[in-house]
Amino acid sequence: MYSAITGWGMSVPSRILTNADLERIVDTSDEWIVSRTGIRERHIAAPDESASTLAIRAARQALERADLMPTDLDMIIVATVTGDYTFPATACLVQDALGASCPAFDIQAACTGWIYGMVMAHQFVTSGTAQNVLVIGVEVLSKITDMSDRATCVLFGDGAGAAIVSASETLGGILGWTLGADGARPEQLYRPAGGSRNPLTRENIATHDAYINMMGSEVFKFATRTMGTAMEEALAKANLTAHDIDLFIPHQANLRIIEAASKRLELPPEKVFVNIEKYGNTSAAAIPIALCEAVEQGRVKPGSKLGCVAFGAGLTWGALALQWTAPVD
Ligand code: ACO
Repeated sequence: MYSAITGWGMSVPSRILTNADLERIVDTSDEWIVSRTGIRERHIAAPDESASTLAIRAARQALERADLMPTDLDMIIVATVTGDYTFPATACLVQDALGASCPAFDIQAACTGWIYGMVMAHQFVTSGTAQNVLVIGVEVLSKITDMSDRATCVLFGDGAGAAIVSASETLGGILGWTLGADGARPEQLYRPAGGSRNPLTRENIATHDAYINMMGSEVFKFATRTMGTAMEEALAKANLTAHDIDLFIPHQANLRIIEAASKRLELPPEKVFVNIEKYGNTSAAAIPIALCEAVEQGRVKPGSKLGCVAFGAGLTWGALALQWTAPVD
């Protein structure tokens, strides 16, 4: 049994925050942001939009493309660090809104979350336990971003991407994967307050500890070290090499990181999908959003071999070697 992507969807908030807008908020410049990150604008949730709002929209699109009813779903997995509540899981809110009746739960591997979710879906589907699993990556990082910290506020955006992983007898889908984590340095990228170690207090809100805290250059070095190796591991499990990839869809965190990974894998720019200029880093949503846009732009066709790789807080990493099988017209 193979695990094929049969549905895909995305949703981003309508409000756009440009680099020019940020120039009015912090001491930065469009030139610095574009040259250091590749980002020109990002979408920011409205006060009444949350992770579930975006996740539900992306999920409905994915169901429609897969030509499935919500009741056809056997499981809903939502990867997020910015769920609507600490509990219950955002996946449960999505389940109710869709009218599905399957198990639903959240997982958390930061920017690698959607890859982790896809591997879980692959396990359930190829073991014969589930027929259709909805995997959503969604993030509303703007709600935990310090808008006075120029080192982080220029990087992140909000959005959701969804995929339906279905059992299939046709060769394709997820053919190889790898997952990893190294928890030795959580403070390189974390939200210090708001969990059980440092519950929210007036003091830690005032000291901005309830916002994303990041050692940017450490994360940058980790990402450039890890992405190429992780991608090669997943490809090797599928008996493929980087030369077989038709389209590389990496995590969209920084254009320079994407370029370093592409160079390491010897992939020319035309085989690399980049949309970071429009969305910034949407964390767990970045790869499924990129996948949707790649399909919409005709860059993914039945038979296309795709490589997806992500890294994130934890620190975590993961990669998928995929062969696309769904009709795209
Ligand atoms: N505008 C202008 N100047 C800035 C800005 C800004 N927005 N941000 C930082 N600077 C300054 C710094 O203060 C520093 O100034 P100094 O030399 O006077 O001290 C200078 O620019 C260089 O700073 P660096 O941090 O060395 O810049 P770098 O080239 O490393 O780029 C960046 C910083 C973009 C954050 C980069 O390190 C990066 O992308 N890291 C990876 C981050 C990432 O991907 N995080 C997400 C992980 S996924 C997840 O799980 C959410």
